[in-house]
Amino acid sequence: MINSENVLNSTQLEEAIQKFVHTFCLEKHDIHSQKVTWHTDEGQAEKIKQIGIPKDGRPVDDVITEMVKEVYRYRGDANHPRFFGFVPGPASSVSWLGDIMTSAYNIHAGGSKLAPTVNCIEQEVIQWLCHQAGFCENPGGVFVSGGSMANITALTAARDNKLNEETLHLGVAYISDQTHSSVAKGLRIIGIPNTRIRKIHTNSNFQLKTDLLESQIQKDLENGLLPFVVIGTAGTTNTGSIDPLEKISQICSKYNLWFHIDGAYGASVLLSPKYRHLLKGTELADSMSWDAHKWLFQTYGCAMVLVKDIKHLFKSFHVNPEYLKDIEGDAEHINPWDIGMELTRPARGLKLWLTLQVLGTDLIGSAIEHGFELATWAEETLRELDHWEIVSKSQLAMINFRYTSDEISEEALDLLHERISERILASGYAAVFTTVLNGKKVLRICALHPETTRDDMRTTIHMLDTFAREILADMKKQNS
Ligand SMILES: Cc1ncc(COP(=O)(O)O)c(C=O)c1O
Repeated sequence: MINSENVLNSTQLEEAIQKFVHTFCLEKHDIHSQKVTWHTDEGQAEKIKQIGIPKDGRPVDDVITEMVKEVYRYRGDANHPRFFGFVPGPASSVSWLGDIMTSAYNIHAGGSKLAPTVNCIEQEVIQWLCHQAGFCENPGGVFVSGGSMANITALTAARDNKLNEETLHLGVAYISDQTHSSVAKGLRIIGIPNTRIRKIHTNSNFQLKTDLLESQIQKDLENGLLPFVVIGTAGTTNTGSIDPLEKISQICSKYNLWFHIDGAYGASVLLSPKYRHLLKGTELADSMSWDAHKWLFQTYGCAMVLVKDIKHLFKSFHVNPEYLKDIEGDAEHINPWDIGMELTRPARGLKLWLTLQVLGTDLIGSAIEHGFELATWAEETLRELDHWEIVSKSQLAMINFRYTSDEISEEALDLLHERISERILASGYAAVFTTVLNGKKVLRICALHPETTRDDMRTTIHMLDTFAREILADMKKQNS
């Protein structure tokens, strides 16, 4: 039988937690001097496989020590101040603490009657975020695990609002060539195949071209199809560009389409007094995705889907089985399982609540504004150097750039950028990855960490410059 004697009694649990927290905090201390990435040598995975799954359990201290040494250590640390790849996840230590608290209580946060105060907090945060977005009729939403889940949740509501079983096979969705891949993935999952997902071109600032959008909608209507949703992005993953939200909304109103905004990355700008004007138009959308584990400094697994009218989520996700009758929701106490995909779910919103309470909105706003500053410092440094072309200028917390040389082919230049990225990663100093813009490989920096300094940014750019020149010299030598 499993009981606290043969597993962990409360004293042992406390000791184990204290020991782990101590080790973790030591590692977090002085993060600037830590490496951004730890490379796994070939044998590491083999070593873990060798551990196997034991028939008889082992002392918890041994396993924790082993995991810290052999598992967690080998990672690209997206929390690090010099991790500039993807959209980083610079989690605040307050969120980390909130995560521990939420896990400790392990509350089933699917139904509001099981967890009334937890549900109340989550809904308070959701209402506050809806207010920031400008949703004011009958707004609402739910915490989900990430931007991909937020997108598919909103797209399901869009489908159910605009199409039915008879018309689903005619529904057409509109995205841009810069829309995040999770949107097309979500559309396919809800029954809209690639052949009815229109990828509209963007302009030189990587924003969706609304004239092309409208002419494509008209063409689809003429062909007997049913346009039903347009997805605009507030902060694209490649460049941070913001689609013309107000213009897209006008087109959606004209043709009676659902307007979804993917704000997974950029919606947090709404919390910056200085820059929130850039997101003018969010108030016109029907739904919006917003990742808290990106620019709201939360640990992973925390995002929100917000809708202008909560009844749309209810219509798509409401369930009413006999085994949930006793804890059915009502208008005042909506069960999260009735407005989203999950039944059992953790209380994802609590750590965000804790963060908002402890840090306050002023500090969070200035932490978000720091990201803008970092991208500007990167651009300034690049402009001081020769051979660097700014392919997409700093916007939000991003910038894209490319080393130019007429001594090697475009193809070789693409390869050069891959190698620069590999070199900086191998150095352990910073993580900078490539992406493709206008058909060419470029380096991309996304800098969200509140503790990243100007010196971090300048040193990173200078290292990239040195690597570019060294690799180019090698490439030329090999070709000669
Ligand atoms: C604009 C945008 N949308 C959606 C996503 C997907 O979010 P997640 O990785 O949280 O599922 C991302 C991720 O970077 C993103 O940048």
